[in-house]
Amino acid sequence: MRHNTARYLPVIAALAIAGLAGCKKTPSNSAGADSHGQGDGNPITKATSTIGMSQCNLGEPWRVQMNDDIRRAAAVHPELKVIFKDAQNDTLKQRSHIEEFISAGVDLIIISPKEAQPLTEPVAKAMQAGIPVIVLDRRVTGDNYTCFIGADNRLIGREAGKWIVNTLGGKGNVVELKGLMTSTPGQDRHSGFREAIKDSQINIIFEADMKWLEPDARKEMESALSRFDQIDLVYAHNDPGAHGAWLAANAAGRAEKIRFVGIDALPHEGVLYVKQGILDATFQYPTGGAEAIDAALKVLRGESVPKEITLGSRVFTKENVDNGGEPIG
Ligand code: FRU
Repeated sequence: MRHNTARYLPVIAALAIAGLAGCKKTPSNSAGADSHGQGDGNPITKATSTIGMSQCNLGEPWRVQMNDDIRRAAAVHPELKVIFKDAQNDTLKQRSHIEEFISAGVDLIIISPKEAQPLTEPVAKAMQAGIPVIVLDRRVTGDNYTCFIGADNRLIGREAGKWIVNTLGGKGNVVELKGLMTSTPGQDRHSGFREAIKDSQINIIFEADMKWLEPDARKEMESALSRFDQIDLVYAHNDPGAHGAWLAANAAGRAEKIRFVGIDALPHEGVLYVKQGILDATFQYPTGGAEAIDAALKVLRGESVPKEITLGSRVFTKENVDNGGEPIG
């Protein structure tokens, strides 16, 4: 459905007269009106709004899923145009994305940042330029953004810890394969987990930063296997990490004796691994793609959005996987 521009001419004219229009280039909008953060809760005052989406990488299925979720949610709103950029796991490239979006004068930015600290400043610059920014999944530092959307990683880490304590009867040797520790989900999945196991007799015999990457997790697990004869369980901060660890253990003929726990629970990845008996549990980490488009539409219409949108999560085990898992928290 396209908007009838004539209907909004008075609004456009009023904005122009007030000197609010044309503060930056909006190539897709011939009238030049700007609807960020203003308006009256009505339809967007432009025929087309452009959203710049900066994805930190597309190497993992979870991120491909996030982009698909965004694409699908945006497709039913012909007034939205989304420009996708892939930073290929390069922080500097992702910083330039934001600068490019600012100079192109996009109407809103969605970013799923690789790392917190280095992406904080470009996000602040976009905000300063009057471009609302929705931060998805991994956080930036401070609160200079429009809205953050993501699941509670500390809670997920804590629930994973509780599940592990119960499953191991309160004691055992555990390997922790951490996600990139300069990204907030890695930090929170670690601290939540440690909090939950602190009064148990679980020993973390080996820990390593596998940077969210399956090949790195596999290599780290090879070292763990060569150093320790008794490993009861691997807690990996994502399913690619848990799968990489399983591949190493399987190649060493030890997978049967070790339990594997991951996070993400994509239907065709972690949930499938649980069904196949590769993983013992996976905790869902929703992408937030659809929610980001919902929030973007509200911002573009001048409606208010919460500063934080926290998504729920579920745990999948062999007992509950055929019934769609169970909610946590
Ligand atoms: C993909 C990913 C997911 C993980 C998320 C954390 O890049 O590593 O597996 O849950 O990022 O930000």
